Amino acid sequence: MALKQGFEVKVTLTQVVAAVLPMQEHWLPLSNLDLLLPPVDVGVFFCYKNPSSAATTFGSMTSALKKALAQTLVSYYAFAGEMVQNLSGEPELLCNNRGVDFVEAFADIELRQLDLYNPDESVEGKLVPQKEQGVLSVQATQLKCGGLVIGCTFDHRVADAYSANMFLVSWAEMAQSMPVTTLPSHRRSLLSSRRPGHFDISINDMYMKIPQMPPPDKELNDHINNNQAPISRIYYVKAEQVHQLQSLANDDKRGSKKFVRTKLEAFTAFLWKLIAKGTDAGDKYCRLGIVVDGRTRLNDGEESMMNKYFGNVLSIPFGEKRNKELKEMNLSMIADEVHNFLDGAVTREHFLGLIDYVEAHRPEPAFSRIYGSKVTREEPAFVVSSGQQFPIRKIDFGWGVPVFGSYHFPWGAQSGFVMPMPCASGNGDWIVYMHLRQEQIEVIELKAPHVFRPFSHDYL
Ligand SMILES: *[C@@H]1O[C@H](CO)[C@@H](O)[C@H](O)[C@H]1NC(C)=O
Ligand SMILES: *[C@@H]1O[C@H](CO)[C@@H](O)[C@H](O)[C@H]1NC(C)=O
Repeated sequence: MALKQGFEVKVTLTQVVAAVLPMQEHWLPLSNLDLLLPPVDVGVFFCYKNPSSAATTFGSMTSALKKALAQTLVSYYAFAGEMVQNLSGEPELLCNNRGVDFVEAFADIELRQLDLYNPDESVEGKLVPQKEQGVLSVQATQLKCGGLVIGCTFDHRVADAYSANMFLVSWAEMAQSMPVTTLPSHRRSLLSSRRPGHFDISINDMYMKIPQMPPPDKELNDHINNNQAPISRIYYVKAEQVHQLQSLANDDKRGSKKFVRTKLEAFTAFLWKLIAKGTDAGDKYCRLGIVVDGRTRLNDGEESMMNKYFGNVLSIPFGEKRNKELKEMNLSMIADEVHNFLDGAVTREHFLGLIDYVEAHRPEPAFSRIYGSKVTREEPAFVVSSGQQFPIRKIDFGWGVPVFGSYHFPWGAQSGFVMPMPCASGNGDWIVYMHLRQEQIEVIELKAPHVFRPFSHDYL
């Protein structure tokens, strides 16, 4: 069936869903690691086929979703609160159970006609809600074929993908009246700064303080006007392609342990080289950041606590190499580079230092340098975030596993953002969300069509 462009979405109902139990209003400070996040929203969405059971209607699905959401918000109360600027000028969470905006809508399109390769067209502003108030918004959209799309948008300052995944799984378990496997912990003392604090100077290279919230980015606006703003695309990557990249990255390491470079390191190295290939400015730098989750690193006797910690526990170390060097290096060497710069940040000391770094500058906010970096055709910069833990097969609310799901994160920076996730069939293939500049997308599609296949419904 041909893809359909320019379909209409009609909102049929807007409600606010609050936690079922009354809650004592209280303040929840953000941790120092939350304070590193700019005020950006993250989207995530799941597509379901028309459920075969006649008893399952759009109405029954939305009421199951809302009922379970109200129950889930009892323990995930941060998502039912409100972000407020406090007397020190820092954001803080008011846990007042204002609730979650829940929108019901109808889209004049069938699931098979959705152009998921181009989420700018099919998802943005249509299937993932614009969050206007609160911390989380949800939209349930009925499709013409009886299929359903659930889109969520949350404030990144409150939760990272790990926390959001935890919430989504709990919500689905609740909807199916299953025991909830993880209750979140909001214990901020797990991320308190040390006294006295100290940090390695390498953190100064990775983060920068900003005297105040950056004004709307004039340059980015100019870029938008010149069609230079990043665009979003979704690709399907076969497991065998990832495997092959990993073999190449390990080709000259046969003597050592079997696969010393991970799939993500190999994939990221491949992309780094591709992006460098897109520019002629050999002497300029190409920057690559990788989002690292600190939970396993900070686990220290309190293992179970960090594993259910709700908030942000992220750092974005990055590497830089001249474009011409990347073009000359083989995949194995680039993967070594990736591994080496990650090595410095995947430690407990790095995260403790980062917490102290933020403390030393508060209330002045600090951001990741690669997020704030200027990007030009000559000097590209992008960030890869691993969605390998994306729990797509667990987001079953009672009418089956989604046939498709992805994060949707046009994050408002000039630097690109790439997120590989497992695909819904669970066969090891990947879905890769990319938010990059048009010319970078063109190079990727031109040079590596065997790896990056534009998403099509034939893959479902
Ligand atoms: C302001 O918010 C920050 C972060 O949420 C918190 O740590 C701090 O204690 C708050 N300050 C005041 C004066 O409420
Ligand atoms: C990659 O290049 C390095 C340095 O030139 C070389 O030692 C290594 O054998 C090469 N690896 C592969 C797999 O070609």
